[in-house]
Amino acid sequence: MNQGPILAANWKCNLDLSQVRQFGDWIKSAHLPPQGKVILFASHCFLPELISLQSDRLMVGAQDVSTVDRGAFTGEVAAFQLKSLGVEMVLVGHSERRHVFGETDEQIASKLDQLLQQGLAPCFCFGETLAQRKAGKTLEVIYVQLQTFFDAYQKTDKASAFAKHAILAYEPVWAIGTGVTAQLEDIREVHERVASLVSEKLKCTLPILYGGSVKPSNTYDIIGTPNVDGVLVGGASNQPETFGEILQESSRR
Ligand code: PGA
Repeated sequence: MNQGPILAANWKCNLDLSQVRQFGDWIKSAHLPPQGKVILFASHCFLPELISLQSDRLMVGAQDVSTVDRGAFTGEVAAFQLKSLGVEMVLVGHSERRHVFGETDEQIASKLDQLLQQGLAPCFCFGETLAQRKAGKTLEVIYVQLQTFFDAYQKTDKASAFAKHAILAYEPVWAIGTGVTAQLEDIREVHERVASLVSEKLKCTLPILYGGSVKPSNTYDIIGTPNVDGVLVGGASNQPETFGEILQESSRR
């Protein structure tokens, strides 16, 4: 990718309304990096607050979507509802959904289908657990997870927003929220395999982000790793100051 890095903030279930407003005010006045794009993945309730910030350099995304299209499903937030707010991208397959809430590949496939039907783009997350890595199963696990995405993608008309803007995010589960970042060599190996898999299966390239304990001090090196097109940042995206340092580090390249 030569349009500059994608710098995505996953705020998870952390900020309250005043913090979201503060972040919004900061990002309006902050200098976005000279190249690339920023994505803010916010809780559903804050999406209307943020949506007016969207531009060709800044995108606002949702952290989850329902498996159902509409109807008597109390508490669910459906793809058409997100679309009606102006949301264009949704996180799918995040490890906290998979491992904390027990989301299955079938449910993830249904979520992708819902996005597809609405022309919304997924930021599709995948990654192995520590036990899987120790058992030498990293690539095997990742291939299975990615197949769900490939199956959905292959159903799309290549001109749809889903296909055009889809993003992949490699997030080793053991590196998320732990302070332990994957070694650059491990990141390089997985990203290289995934990039060639995407080209073989989909005959295109898609941005592949790395996520898992990204912070200002490791951003420069991670972004400089081959086939890494940006970062998905959890904990270090919660304060404008720290996220701002990550933006600065990314633009040193
Ligand atoms: P972390 O989270 O940066 O806090 O490790 C990353 C993520 O879960 O997207």
